[in-house]
Amino acid sequence: MGPRTARAAFQHLTSPRFHLAGFSNRVTLGEIGEIKKENTPVMHVKMDKLEDRGMALKWRWRERMRAQGKPSDQPNMVMGANVQVCWEKFARYWDVEARLVPMEGERYNLTGDVVVDYCDENTIGVVAVLGSTFDGSYEPVQDICDRLDQLQADTGLDVPVHVDGASGGFIAPFLDPELVWDFRLPRVQSINASGHKYGLVYPGVGWAIWRNPEALPDDLVFHVNYLGGDMPTFALNFSRPGNHVVAQYYNFVRLGFDGYRLVQQAARDVAMHVANEVAQIDAFRLLTDGSELPVFAFTIADGVDGFTVFDVSRVLREKGWLVPAYSFPENRQDLSALRIVVRNGFDRDMADLLITDIRGAAEYLSRLEAPMPPDPSPHNFHH
Ligand SMILES: Cc1ncc(COP(=O)(O)O)c(C=O)c1O
Repeated sequence: MGPRTARAAFQHLTSPRFHLAGFSNRVTLGEIGEIKKENTPVMHVKMDKLEDRGMALKWRWRERMRAQGKPSDQPNMVMGANVQVCWEKFARYWDVEARLVPMEGERYNLTGDVVVDYCDENTIGVVAVLGSTFDGSYEPVQDICDRLDQLQADTGLDVPVHVDGASGGFIAPFLDPELVWDFRLPRVQSINASGHKYGLVYPGVGWAIWRNPEALPDDLVFHVNYLGGDMPTFALNFSRPGNHVVAQYYNFVRLGFDGYRLVQQAARDVAMHVANEVAQIDAFRLLTDGSELPVFAFTIADGVDGFTVFDVSRVLREKGWLVPAYSFPENRQDLSALRIVVRNGFDRDMADLLITDIRGAAEYLSRLEAPMPPDPSPHNFHH
């Protein structure tokens, strides 16, 4: 069996034995050289943007359908309308129907009670997000899995879950050990986490982990011998620099489990502090409070109609802050929000400066006798 707790997995990851294998492209959290060992998570460094974990789900579903003599040309994938665009890209590029569960009222992400309505025998998997790009909230992975367990008991449909832990994969293990969202749930087959977000590495390194070798079909893995020995490779791109992997590994070793925990706790404390201050400003209403991802979203309070979140973003930009304003997806396009993402380095002093400027922006906009003139360059974020 692989390591059972986040702390044990982390210790294993930073052990000298793991180190030896750490620079290959596809390594395990278990014993080195036993990639095929049962129940051993398979880990993969992801440096391309196409969603290889989606491919694994599609391949496995297709194998299942073929084995049953059923057609395998209409796959679909179920996810909340709040998913990051990478999943819609995966679906479009790989001919999978993206079943986006719309938001409803104050429900801004995917929940267990709605998920089963969207699944059928062509569902290659459900994506649960920890946490949402739109507001930083965690999707209830355990509840989603419980409902899918019930669906299997009722109908025989066995729908796997992928957890998109792009941000939360580096938050929850350190700050929310009691939250069950990962391989403790048998239905969770794979997880991704971005090293270049809360993993504390510069862009662009990411991680994908499958719960065991069966979750990653052999068919997708190529074995290369021309570098000597056997190098299993599963990637859509070819030679890439390995510096990010070294940087990730350096931070793991340097900070250790407790170092990561302290860094992430500081980010959460600052996010909750800023959210709490924003909540005191009459012009705004919090959508989330930074207590899950160190990220929160807020909108204009009911009854305030002299300005919009886009005006707030514009005024803050004049002060040098990039606080994005955006509308929510399907069914809640009427809702627009601002989002603040707190990461390592954004300390309490900077937070207080930001709070002063948010307060100032609200006061300035509230004093205007007429709405702001239209922004001559509304797309003022140049990416
Ligand atoms: C929830 C979520 N999933 C996936 C991604 C994409 O991750 P990456 O940039 O590591 O490819 C992001 C990036 O913002 C995200 O927020």
